[in-house]
Amino acid sequence: MVNKLNPRLTEPLEAQPLDIQGFEQPRELLDAIDEDLTSLLDLAQRPVVSASQFTRDQLLQLARLAARYETQPQMITRPLTGKILISAFYEPSTRTRLSFESAWHRLGGDIMSITDPASTGIAKGESLYDIGEMLNHYGDLVVLRDSDRNAVYEMLESLRIPIINGGNGTDEHPTQAMADIYALMKWRPSSFIPGCPDAPALRIGIIGVPGVMRTVRSLLVLLGLFSDAIAEVVIISDKAQPFSEDQQEELESAGLTLRVSDDLDKELPDLDVVYINTIAWVGDDYEELGSQYSLSQSSPLKKDAIILHPLARGRELPRELDDTPYNWYFAQARGAVFMRMALLSSIMKSFT
Ligand code: CP
Repeated sequence: MVNKLNPRLTEPLEAQPLDIQGFEQPRELLDAIDEDLTSLLDLAQRPVVSASQFTRDQLLQLARLAARYETQPQMITRPLTGKILISAFYEPSTRTRLSFESAWHRLGGDIMSITDPASTGIAKGESLYDIGEMLNHYGDLVVLRDSDRNAVYEMLESLRIPIINGGNGTDEHPTQAMADIYALMKWRPSSFIPGCPDAPALRIGIIGVPGVMRTVRSLLVLLGLFSDAIAEVVIISDKAQPFSEDQQEELESAGLTLRVSDDLDKELPDLDVVYINTIAWVGDDYEELGSQYSLSQSSPLKKDAIILHPLARGRELPRELDDTPYNWYFAQARGAVFMRMALLSSIMKSFT
């Protein structure tokens, strides 16, 4: 009776569907980057608030370490045993909270998790400054998500343990951008790694609003570190001015060539990477922006293009694309665990 209702109940499930794009790619990346942990030593005990805190060399070394964790999980020696992560998510999250917690667990540490601000002194008017002072005594590192862009800075004032920004309102989401870059490096190592044979410069389309989408804002900053690998970034938006004040100038001075277009289907045939997102956290709620833009199996995508999406998705990315070679968004989400492991072990100076 039950089996008739649901065919997935009739046979064992595969633990990891390794036929999904990008799931078996990290070996190439691992072999392509020479190990040099010097630049990662600079991250020890440092807070991470903005993507602009990272150098190109640090990104390459973090990606190498992530690729090692992904390809050689048996080599991980639980270096964070006895260390406590305080996972404070004052705004909903599936991926960021759970992948940080998965990363910390895989490195051997313990976790205290806050998923509802009303369960803390915030409900009684306690300041984040005072909560930060308490957290110094309870754990070894804090990951904070808050829809107020200033929250991470307020807590930072009283913290003597590192804090990582897990998304602060419309401002930044630096570790999501690191996961995005890791996916790009796995897909096309030759475009990102010094010394690889010349690869054609990439044309990247971003369907989103850089001025108010924290994932896009942080990703553009990291793309600026690899501007020599990128021919053009096309922002696809119906807004005449999708950038925040000074944002476009800063990205152009980092070396990116930027263009805004409102015609998705006209741009798609020339794009190597299509990054799509519609959600922006504004105030205490989310807004869907650009919802007139969506992808489908009949979209005029370039043959070898890939699609990235920070997820959660809506109608803009239908499930019919999941079983196509364009789907790199699941690899992007999976890789976030290993990239966060690399970052956490660097901050805790606990490489294994
Ligand atoms: N990409 C991302 O930030 O997802 P969550 O909101 O689920 O953490």
